[in-house]
Amino acid sequence: MARMKVLVTGGTGVLGRELTHRLRDHAEVRVLSRRPAQDTGSVQGDLETGEGLVAAVEGVDAIAHCASAADYRRPQRDVAQTQRLLDAVGGERPHIVYISIVGADRVPFGFLRAKLEAERLVEESGLPWTTLRATQFHDLMLMFVMRLCKAPVAVVPRGSLFQPVDVGDVAERMVELIMGQPAGHVRELGGPKVESMTDLIRTYLTATHRRRSMVAIPVPGRLRTAFGVGGQLLTDGDQGTVTFENYLRSRGTADGIIKHPYGH
Ligand SMILES: NC(=O)c1ccc[n+]([C@@H]2O[C@H](COP(=O)([O-])OP(=O)(O)OC[C@H]3O[C@@H](n4cnc5c(N)ncnc54)[C@H](OP(=O)(O)O)[C@@H]3O)[C@@H](O)[C@H]2O)c1
Repeated sequence: MARMKVLVTGGTGVLGRELTHRLRDHAEVRVLSRRPAQDTGSVQGDLETGEGLVAAVEGVDAIAHCASAADYRRPQRDVAQTQRLLDAVGGERPHIVYISIVGADRVPFGFLRAKLEAERLVEESGLPWTTLRATQFHDLMLMFVMRLCKAPVAVVPRGSLFQPVDVGDVAERMVELIMGQPAGHVRELGGPKVESMTDLIRTYLTATHRRRSMVAIPVPGRLRTAFGVGGQLLTDGDQGTVTFENYLRSRGTADGIIKHPYGH
């Protein structure tokens, strides 16, 4: 039987890399990137301009849509980019598998609202679709924690709770969804443990053999909403297996130096 052809948007990103690596055992994978194509497994295209998208989607059986402008100031960019991808599909009928965020339907924060809008575009596209909502990746939490720990005193939002998940667990679930039948909204996926930002910072400081004072400050109304106090936790979903502590252990070196996952 011919191998399934899958386009992965965002295949060079934190999730996309893990997904692509696993998916190649099952399917012929094409990675969309703004960078020039390196080999036959990649294709150049830009969701912001639409350039290269028609060629990128041509002949694929499924699209894993993992690209994001990650622009918290202009979250509508992700909505427009999703629309451009759908427009490029034209007469083809690939299965679209979209990765969204837990809380998109209940946290009234611009970026999550935009994720919900993008989810709806996928649902109403007329294409077969599957959407998985995941909680924050450990990598993202590490980025926040590292930023907060740059200051001599880490200022931490009081009452903020997270349930970060390992991107490997998300990638594995995505592979199952891509190789399976279109399933609409599937069970959400989160990490095994609910932790406050203070907990996450303590774990990071221990792993990197550092010390920092912390001060927890109450967050005002709108920001409180943004942190989603509770809104970004799983209500009824599946839990991955890797805690933030285990994730740090797997990334850390013997001298306690941990590299920034988003590379900036
Ligand atoms: N991070 C989290 O905690 C989290 C949690 C739940 C869900 N999600 C969702 O999971 C997805 C992946 O997140 P991530 O953190 O892995 O992302 P990421 O590492 O920031 O990667 C973003 C990807 O998007 C691509 N991209 C950006 N702008 C593009 C454009 N104009 N045209 C084509 N490609 C473009 C980039 O490719 P090039 O730079 O190569 O062009 C890159 O591969 C996103 O939809 C995100 O909302 C994330």
